[in-house]
Amino acid sequence: MALDLDSIGRPIGPVERDYDWKDAVLYALGVGAGSDELDYVYEKQLKVLPSFSIGAVFDFLMRVAAESGADLRGILHGEQDIFFHQPIPPEGRLTTRGRITHIYDKGEDKGAVVIAEADTFHGSGAKLFTNVFTLFCRRDGGFGGENAPGEKVVFPERPPDFEQRDRPSPDQPLIYRLSGDVFALHVDPDFARQSGFERPIMHGLCTHGYACRAAVKHLMAGQPERMTRFRVRFSKALYPGVPIETRIWKTDEGRAVFRVLDAESSEVVIDNGVVEWMPPAELERRRKLGAIHFDGRVAVVTGGGAGLGRAYALELARRGAKVVVNDLGGARDGSGQGSAGPADEVVAEIRKAGGKAVASYDSVATPEGGERIVKTALDAFGRLDILINNAGILRDRSLLKMSPEEWAAVIAVHLDGAYCVTRPALKAMRERGYGRIVMTTSAAGLHGNFGQTNYAAAKLGIVGFMNTVKLEGRKHGVKINAVAPIAATRLTEDILPPDMQARLRPDFAVPLTLYLASELCPDTGGIYSAGMGFYGRVAMLTGAGTVIGDGQSPPSAEEVAAEMNAIRSLEGGRIYEDAMSALVPLMDGRAGRAGA
Ligand code: NAI
Repeated sequence: MALDLDSIGRPIGPVERDYDWKDAVLYALGVGAGSDELDYVYEKQLKVLPSFSIGAVFDFLMRVAAESGADLRGILHGEQDIFFHQPIPPEGRLTTRGRITHIYDKGEDKGAVVIAEADTFHGSGAKLFTNVFTLFCRRDGGFGGENAPGEKVVFPERPPDFEQRDRPSPDQPLIYRLSGDVFALHVDPDFARQSGFERPIMHGLCTHGYACRAAVKHLMAGQPERMTRFRVRFSKALYPGVPIETRIWKTDEGRAVFRVLDAESSEVVIDNGVVEWMPPAELERRRKLGAIHFDGRVAVVTGGGAGLGRAYALELARRGAKVVVNDLGGARDGSGQGSAGPADEVVAEIRKAGGKAVASYDSVATPEGGERIVKTALDAFGRLDILINNAGILRDRSLLKMSPEEWAAVIAVHLDGAYCVTRPALKAMRERGYGRIVMTTSAAGLHGNFGQTNYAAAKLGIVGFMNTVKLEGRKHGVKINAVAPIAATRLTEDILPPDMQARLRPDFAVPLTLYLASELCPDTGGIYSAGMGFYGRVAMLTGAGTVIGDGQSPPSAEEVAAEMNAIRSLEGGRIYEDAMSALVPLMDGRAGRAGA
């Protein structure tokens, strides 16, 4: 079987696994924990070892190997890098989704390198960790691809700052394998001999667990929840019962490098180890934030200087995002020269609270404006992960009185604006294989509102736009959804009844919009209402319909009229993923009829 280069980017998963405290304890026992580390083995005070995260997604690794098309006889687990986002709870369901990100060629005799990345979420919705797997495929080199770039790990010349000696028992692999890796090489003497070893060998990931325990003990005062990264390279096989030594050098505040040696031969069995951790204050900050945070993410909020956009921008920043607050600062109807005031004020508010933000005063309504808004994010923060298309104006007038200017101005900000900003944003997101876009639609567009033909047309146009971006972004990890908010703002001050205004605080729309902007959101193409504490889904429903006539000649208008009850009915209605799938029932109906 040859390497499948098309496997790059193809989604793998979800791979699901339920676990409880006994699994976490069994894993800890498998990697040498005992009565001197009760936190890892006693359910009353259980802390899950961070390295459990790779043990728990072992099935995913198998899927990567199969998906890549590599020759399974030549595969070695070469490196493992894990980034931790939240402490691992002692029980629950783990859902892992990822993809192969790169396939490199080291040359005909040296093999290929397959790199895959996967995020694992807990049943509570929290994103727990991201694994980056590196597989060395010894039999697959020489296909003519690029060579792999390596991250150089520099070890200080001085003696290690910490040394941890352990002696895995001769039976260690027999316990470790119960956590999921039941490969015969670690238990079966005949299999081990056929594979060129004297006897069964330790699992590399078991030694990895020993090193993780040592790092938590010496660097994090025994608090595994402070670990943010743990990276290793597996360099040599180790026999069970042989003592090991983990040597650790602190290189920075919150960073160390390490190696694990076979203490008898002094050979390095785990090399290029990197461990990173956070100070207790950061742990506290993350605890308070909860599961949805935007650390490391960059967001653009258009129309972020007032109303709903301001509320989104403040909360995104409070939860760790770096925010571009875009606002033209014009009048409610979009007239006037605009002003830097609204965007600047929100940026100042974010900075005062300790967050990061920059202002952008461009109009969303021109392609140049859209490009500049996205460029502001890339220039200031180097990337773009989240776009909230929120800017908006109103020019209400009943249709007979609506001038072409009033029509065009509203379409320009809402609908052209969606195109002008989303296009460069999608380009930036696609390059990183990740993005979340939230569009702002409206009940006026979804259901109609007197005097708002321009606005309603633009707002439903945005839904059509989203329906297609959903398909074009899917392969690149970009999800797009639409919110129909309802809130008391400048835009609605004379539309909504005064007694409702007080209950219509914009912050009620924030939780849903932020969820849709977060990694937790697996959905794409959804429309949601949000306001006053109500949250619900809106959808395009196609009724079951009926087939009239023989399909050879069209039925008459009278025949259609006679079937209107069936045509009108939404009973058994369905929501279709795309235009092609919406055609299927037409075909099926015909086929069913033809066969009848
Ligand atoms: P708002 O008037 O308080 O805020 C809109 C912001 O967009 C303003 O700060 C404005 O300066 C900015 N803006 C206008 N044109 C712009 C342009 N060309 N480029 C950059 N910025 C521009 O209004 P609100 O209520 O916060 O509206 C936000 C979004 O929510 C709009 O898309 C609106 O249509 C939508 N919406 C609001 C509802 C509500 O109940 N408030 C109901 C349904 C939808």
